[in-house]
Amino acid sequence: MDKIVSLAKRRGFVFQSSEIYGGLNGCWDYGPLGVELLNNLKQAWWRSMTLRDDIEGIDASILMHPRVWEASGHVANFTDPMVDCKQCKARYRTDVLIDDLSVKKKKEILRGLYKEDFEGQQSDEKILMEFSKRIVGDEIIAKVIRELIVCPNCGNKGTFTEARQFNLMFKTFVGPVEDTNNVVYLRPETAQGIFVNFLNVLNASRQKLPFGIAQIGKAFRNEINTKNFLFRTREFEQMEMQYFVKPGSEDTWFEYWREERLQWFLNLGMKRDMLQWHKHEKLAHYAKNAYDIEFRFPFGWGEVEGIHSRTDYDLSRHEEYSGKSMKYFDEQSKEKFTPYVIETSIGASRSFMAFLCASYDEEMVEGEMRTVLHLHPTLAPMKAAVLPLVNREGMDDIARQLTKDLQKSFRVFYDDSGAIGRRYRRQDEIGTPYSFTVDSQTLQDRTVTVRERDSMKQERLSIDAVKNYLSEHLRHETGG
Ligand code: GAP
Repeated sequence: MDKIVSLAKRRGFVFQSSEIYGGLNGCWDYGPLGVELLNNLKQAWWRSMTLRDDIEGIDASILMHPRVWEASGHVANFTDPMVDCKQCKARYRTDVLIDDLSVKKKKEILRGLYKEDFEGQQSDEKILMEFSKRIVGDEIIAKVIRELIVCPNCGNKGTFTEARQFNLMFKTFVGPVEDTNNVVYLRPETAQGIFVNFLNVLNASRQKLPFGIAQIGKAFRNEINTKNFLFRTREFEQMEMQYFVKPGSEDTWFEYWREERLQWFLNLGMKRDMLQWHKHEKLAHYAKNAYDIEFRFPFGWGEVEGIHSRTDYDLSRHEEYSGKSMKYFDEQSKEKFTPYVIETSIGASRSFMAFLCASYDEEMVEGEMRTVLHLHPTLAPMKAAVLPLVNREGMDDIARQLTKDLQKSFRVFYDDSGAIGRRYRRQDEIGTPYSFTVDSQTLQDRTVTVRERDSMKQERLSIDAVKNYLSEHLRHETGG
């Protein structure tokens, strides 16, 4: 993970927010290459959702009427349990406090609670399994925190308060008066912007069930503990789609969207063994079924996307709170009903990190370490590099002209500094799939070499064929 974070900063993918002021916890800025990769990722998702008949897009505002969040349940329930240290005032989410304990400490806790010998031949993995099996439920967690854990900040034991529920929504005020009547929230998910626009989209687009509404946008959560780079941040982007279906058909559509969403990752070059399904055993009261797609991050498996069967909960709640009918009239059966919803919800920033981790590789090439991002060409920030072998004899002029031509259609990088091998390595490190080199043979027969990032194989082709080569290869790679 450290290597990926360091590469991300060094090559301009991701910077710490407000770094010159010491940074702002849980917030990150995307640099020149990062914003390209992020945009490519969002484009790939947007295209997969909207280049079909049955899904419309929207872009709703971040600030919404405060009743939206009462209806959605976020005011009452979007909370995490947390404790404060009475001694040093540090605040922790209880589950994170427990998760972050070392294996040694977990072993000690098991021994303290159950008076069994957890030393013996037990492997770390077994201890961790035993711990997560036994340390569950509010009561036991409260006891462990009260009696057995020291505050990671000041080192005192027995100084934590009882757990309290902490709402994760950021509050602010509309207008000049900061009172409770003017409270609004920064949206903690984009989904509600879709639900409240269900009728608008339905009427404007004249869609019929089943159909979906897709949206990409920022979401904000005042996470108590941010950690693991882009994994859990306070400001992030979501790509969400709500698919409205006739009640009774939700199970079929749920399976359909599970397939589609997994395939999306695979189409973008993710290996199947880097992904797994996690079925929610404990469902939210309104959910009928829920699965997460988890990615194998360097720190362990973590959710990147949720696929949820949400029944008619959200539309019914908005009907109740707004007093406006959210019902759909089915022309064929002449029935009026509230549609059921299948939601697909993926974090743009979290999946950005997953693709970065999945593509990162180090390999020995001719006795030297090569760092390479095996990014799918669709995602790669730069589609090609153009490199004159040397900066004279007109090679640089030809290379600059080629760059200009290619830049009419693609993001292409011109580089004429340093040895050619080093320049290839610099492109490998940012995942550029193709490099075109202008050399002395170019001056004679107007051919250039193309080097492919993953195989490092080189072949010659006419300079006039480069643009087609790139279009063909990028189209081929994206299955277009
Ligand atoms: N509308 C449903 C919803 O918001 P969620 O499981 O809370 O569901 C969906 O979030 C996705 O949003 C997650 O799978 C994750 O990719 C992303 N996400 C959620 N919280 C995040 C955070 N604090 N930082 C980065 N990404 C986050």
